[in-house]
Amino acid sequence: MLVAFTNTKGGVGKSTLAAHLAIWLYDQGYRVALLDTDIQQSSAPWVRAAEPAITVVTAFEMEQIQKACEDLRRSHEIVVVDTPGKENDASHTVPFLVDLAVLPLQPSKLDLRAVKDALKSIRLAQQVTGGKRPEAVFVLYLTAKGDVQTRILREQLAASGFPVAGSEVRRLNALRDACDSAVTRLRPSEAREAKTDIHALFTELLGDRLTSMKPEQSTSEKRIKAANE
Ligand SMILES: Nc1ncnc2c1ncn2[C@@H]1O[C@H](COP(=O)(O)OP(=O)(O)O)[C@@H](O)[C@H]1O
Ligand SMILES: [Mg+2]
Repeated sequence: MLVAFTNTKGGVGKSTLAAHLAIWLYDQGYRVALLDTDIQQSSAPWVRAAEPAITVVTAFEMEQIQKACEDLRRSHEIVVVDTPGKENDASHTVPFLVDLAVLPLQPSKLDLRAVKDALKSIRLAQQVTGGKRPEAVFVLYLTAKGDVQTRILREQLAASGFPVAGSEVRRLNALRDACDSAVTRLRPSEAREAKTDIHALFTELLGDRLTSMKPEQSTSEKRIKAANE
């Protein structure tokens, strides 16, 4: 399965979510790879620093990206793809190659306008594959509790015909500061809100798909078992 975080606008949480998803899946025992297609390379060094055992690949041009997706799909259960915050080869190519495109956006009118560009490639890819791929879902990111604008935007997004995830990710310092690690790896008493948002979102996005490929043991369980042997 290939999952991409995509939106041709920058600063909407793509790299933070991509790095967190790769680490979250790895920690549960899945064979996961990260493909960073953004020339700025935010998520690639992040995941390398956080977890050297995760396969991290970078590819920026159409043919390279296509080849990387084919290779990684063969050797991994899940490939997480990060994309650039602008229109280029990568943003146009990735929607044609993935199973699920996740579009994070801030609850603002500007973001709503900008996301229309990202939707063009997704709609085109769906037309080419007879409407099957990629599935696409919006995620409201950097939200604030009780914000009326978020509720309005949710309704406007729903009118686009694509689903909006029920889970939102709030603007939280723990996520801002998580670079080179993951909030889900912090001690139980730390970053409760950030962990809650991340767990809820990833479970909602992937829960059903993951049950069909559940690993027998999580990576942390394997580590404990190996240490006891
Ligand atoms: N939930 C959050 N709350 C506050 N700041 C965040 C959150 N998630 C990410 N950030 C910060 O917002 C900025 C943009 O995030 P990033 O993941 O790089 O977005 P993108 O990849 O879409 O450009 C970064 O400085 C990051 O540290
Ligand atoms: Mg990024």
